[in-house]
Amino acid sequence: MGDIAYSRVGDNLYMLQYRDYETKYFEGLWHIPEGVTYNSFILETREGLVVFDTWKRSLRGLFIEEFSKHFDVRDVKYLVVHHMEPDHSGSIPYLLASNPEVTVLGHVLSKGMIESFYQVKPRFQPVKDGEVLQLGGYRLRFLHTPWLHWPETIMTYVEEEEALLTCDAFGSYGVPSRVFHDELGVEEKERFSRYMVKYFANIIGHFREWVVKNIEKISQENLNISAILPAHGVLYRGDSVREVVEKYRSLGAGETVPGKTVIAYTSMYGFVSEVVDDAVNLLDKYGIKPSVYGFTDRERADFSELIADAYQAENLIIATATYEARTFPLMKEVVELIIEKTPVNKNVLVIALYGWGGKAGAELEELLTKNGFRKLEVIEFRAGQRENVQKELEDRLPRLLGRGNAQEETF
Ligand code: FEO
Repeated sequence: MGDIAYSRVGDNLYMLQYRDYETKYFEGLWHIPEGVTYNSFILETREGLVVFDTWKRSLRGLFIEEFSKHFDVRDVKYLVVHHMEPDHSGSIPYLLASNPEVTVLGHVLSKGMIESFYQVKPRFQPVKDGEVLQLGGYRLRFLHTPWLHWPETIMTYVEEEEALLTCDAFGSYGVPSRVFHDELGVEEKERFSRYMVKYFANIIGHFREWVVKNIEKISQENLNISAILPAHGVLYRGDSVREVVEKYRSLGAGETVPGKTVIAYTSMYGFVSEVVDDAVNLLDKYGIKPSVYGFTDRERADFSELIADAYQAENLIIATATYEARTFPLMKEVVELIIEKTPVNKNVLVIALYGWGGKAGAELEELLTKNGFRKLEVIEFRAGQRENVQKELEDRLPRLLGRGNAQEETF
């Protein structure tokens, strides 16, 4: 069971947050032992309430129950739908059932999604990019921010609060002990820095070029932003606004962390594991300590973390067994995720082992090259040729690698 936090996050702006420790796999895919939050915001004006996003579908009854502890649902004038993914939109039908007079505001594409997902036909008012709604002394400016993380995503700037409500963008996994980032201690800030990168790589990474475009677009609006309020995780205000925007810009641009090195490997009977040990020892001579993710008969790495590390890696070593004359299935899956989610500007070394027929190296080379990974080397070998592989590694790793150990930034 999760818990609920109700907080004042502006003069007349409130957050109703569900702190979810139960979801093991976000989107049914990403492993999140750190948990996640769903942040709904409520603006209180002289002319009624504006609700921004809700909670996931399984929490729809609880959402209304908690909302009603603090507000009268009959006072809700508008529901702003920033994004239709059901982790935010799931409680919409319950809110509408409690107050059918609510007008839903969102991207024009959201209308069809609401009607289909939830079998309701609300009063729906599409908002144009840059459109301003005036209500009870407040000006709400809506910005279309496509692909953060679906095409219909919008943000709202609440002018009088100097607050930008960003939905998935600037979000993080994890359940923070405090509302705002500047209230966290050093250790928790480090954890949330990691949670944000992991969330970005898992959820937003595929659309990273849109991060750059949308940040550029928002900056051209010349908004005075004192707070960034995402719908997942910790909130940002003061100096941390500038810091999180810069972090996001860097992630969107696909900037690597110098020296950051990731090894992902599969090993059926230990031959690949031995070669990975040799690679780790060799990397140590260059002062590089890689993050190692193994899929073997004894362990199965967490690919959500692997993708988070691979996103900013300068160097990536993919070592795999061959299986039925093809790439070992789990490695194929990992490589496809790396292609889908991470930037291509990495140095990649593929090491493929085979028993009776070498195919995995060529298959991965073709797959990675076709998808834009240009800085690529391949070593293919028959099981038992460890010394030969060592010589190859000694020759090729220095050419391939960046310099020194990774220095990841925390903000
Ligand atoms: Fe948090 Fe794309 O939904």
